[in-house]
Amino acid sequence: THLTNEGNLLAAWYQAVHRQLPWRSTRDPYSIWISETMLQQTRVETVIPYYEAFMSKYPAVDDLAAADFEDVAKLWQGLGYYSRARNLHRAAKVVMTEFGGAIPSSEAEIRSLPGIGPYTAGAVLSIAFDEPVPAVDGNVLRVMARFLGIEAPIETSAVKQEITAKVEQWLHLGKPSILTQALMELGATVCTPRAPECPRCPVQGNCVAFKNGSQSRLPVRKPK
Ligand code: ADE
Repeated sequence: THLTNEGNLLAAWYQAVHRQLPWRSTRDPYSIWISETMLQQTRVETVIPYYEAFMSKYPAVDDLAAADFEDVAKLWQGLGYYSRARNLHRAAKVVMTEFGGAIPSSEAEIRSLPGIGPYTAGAVLSIAFDEPVPAVDGNVLRVMARFLGIEAPIETSAVKQEITAKVEQWLHLGKPSILTQALMELGATVCTPRAPECPRCPVQGNCVAFKNGSQSRLPVRKPK
């Protein structure tokens, strides 16, 4: 069908052209959790050396749980948003005491950890556990708003819900670990905020914005 086709096209494209990034050579949930937490407010190029240093100092969740926060904070210096580091450290302790040292693979349990909201939960569950839980960030909102030709402002909860539901549908029809990363990669490298490179897009054929020539105008934002 139409839907499985998008998933197949996205997955094949991702496998062929994705960037080799340090967190993409693993399916370890702890590694995915650390990288996605860093990537939420910080660019990929900035994150890479911080991620490498963090993983060599704290290779597993028990290492992080046993650390002094002052040492964790030192590794975080320059990344900003220290609450992320504080929550990671707290959550690592909870994983040890409440979950026997294993990052939980259920949405309710992982969401109970400090600092893990809908985006991080979706990223860890889909990328590490292949669970069909969407990880919708600004990149994915932009890609999907264009693909679906959504003219309402993307900040509205109705639009976010529509996009999340569509992504979830795709995840159910394919491999969540690949599709989640494919959507992120498409937003980062092809379906960029300015001057999207539609000729390089694997789903151009069914993209409403491309069909209407509205790709540079979408997504619409609420007037301030
Ligand atoms: N931004 C958020 N998650 C990412 C990932 N896994 N790879 C690259 N960029 C990202």
